[in-house]
Amino acid sequence: MLTFVVFFIIIATSHSLDNGLARTPPMGWLAWQRFRCNTDCISDPDHCISEKLFMTMADRLVSDGYAAAGYKLISLDDCWLAKTRDKKGRLQPDHDRFPSGIKALADYIHAKGLRFGIYEDYGNYTCAGYPGILGHLETDAKTFAEWDVDYVKLDGCYAYPSQMDAGYPDFGMYLNQTGRPMVYSCSWPDYQLDAGLKPDYKTIAKVCNLWRNFDDIDDSWESVQKIIDYYGDNQDELIPNAGPGHWNDPDMLIIGNFGLSYEQSRSQMAIWAILAAPLLMSVDLRTIRPEYRDILLNKYVIQVNQDPLGNQGRRVYKESGIEIWMKPVTPVINGKYSYAVAFLNRRTDGTPSEVSVGLKELGLNHEKGYKVLELFDKKDLGVKDPVDRVKVDVNPTGVVLLKFIALKHSVKRFGN
Ligand code: GLA
Repeated sequence: MLTFVVFFIIIATSHSLDNGLARTPPMGWLAWQRFRCNTDCISDPDHCISEKLFMTMADRLVSDGYAAAGYKLISLDDCWLAKTRDKKGRLQPDHDRFPSGIKALADYIHAKGLRFGIYEDYGNYTCAGYPGILGHLETDAKTFAEWDVDYVKLDGCYAYPSQMDAGYPDFGMYLNQTGRPMVYSCSWPDYQLDAGLKPDYKTIAKVCNLWRNFDDIDDSWESVQKIIDYYGDNQDELIPNAGPGHWNDPDMLIIGNFGLSYEQSRSQMAIWAILAAPLLMSVDLRTIRPEYRDILLNKYVIQVNQDPLGNQGRRVYKESGIEIWMKPVTPVINGKYSYAVAFLNRRTDGTPSEVSVGLKELGLNHEKGYKVLELFDKKDLGVKDPVDRVKVDVNPTGVVLLKFIALKHSVKRFGN
């Protein structure tokens, strides 16, 4: 009997991360999309991957209001490492670019009330060719815990995708064994899908707090649209995996960089909110223009993203370049959800498209009605009943994001 119990416990811990973290989608700042693998601190000291860059971004996260809005994570991505391990076989940072060491950087970030993330790769090398964790899983999990890491992004270059079903859970187990709670971000399904394998999302959602399943985002509207299409086309497979503690990750927010217009930036923010996606900005916070910062800081849109129910929304309509995306959110009144509804215009004819739809057609049938708010321009659109219609003008490549808040009591109006 005793043998059986012990055996059962080992199985349970090795297959479940269950770390109590990421109950809402993680929010923060990740280096990769904006700063890539720039290691040239001699001629480009302000943009190279160095402790200075991360300390500066941590300062900005706090001073410019991002941390207060919920963006609490500062995370390294690739290219922070030295090309070799130290004499004891442990990972070490590039000493010229991180002269104080990773623990000191984590301390700096923690002292600001933020959380510290790190990047590694399950394979022999990271995607940019630095040492990977294969053969060192236990040591590296311990090293991360000793450095007070709060979040680990584990990439999957230079590894066999068929071995990931064992490898990613193994590393999750070693992370658990350290006793330090660390959010575990996996690239496991992304590499498996690329290799033509079918990801076991049930297990992935037990082991990882978030996971990538599609191509890297690039700095363009085209790239954002490809991701939006992937999430819409595969929603029936993806939606059931998401929920508090475990999220699909469509990749970083590129808002405020070079490739997205103002309208397109709102579109990315709105769809990432509907998808309950991690909100990981990758932008130079020193030079971001105020109107893009405002998009990232819009507390009503962030609230949609961070809704405690943790539902991933879905595309409910797609016709002639117009899409409607809906996410069930709180408050829930007598079993009827409130909804965030995004009207996305993929058209490029140079004039806004008018979209008009009946609430009933959207399934909004709560008989006491809804208070309707427009979240980007912060307009109150009054109370609507299931028999009413909403009409919005959506700019080319832009979005209108509405919230339908289910009412407790019907509002007396003329005519009802
Ligand atoms: C992969 C990941 C990216 C980034 C790079 C770093 O491509 O998907 O997000 O981490 O590796 O090399």
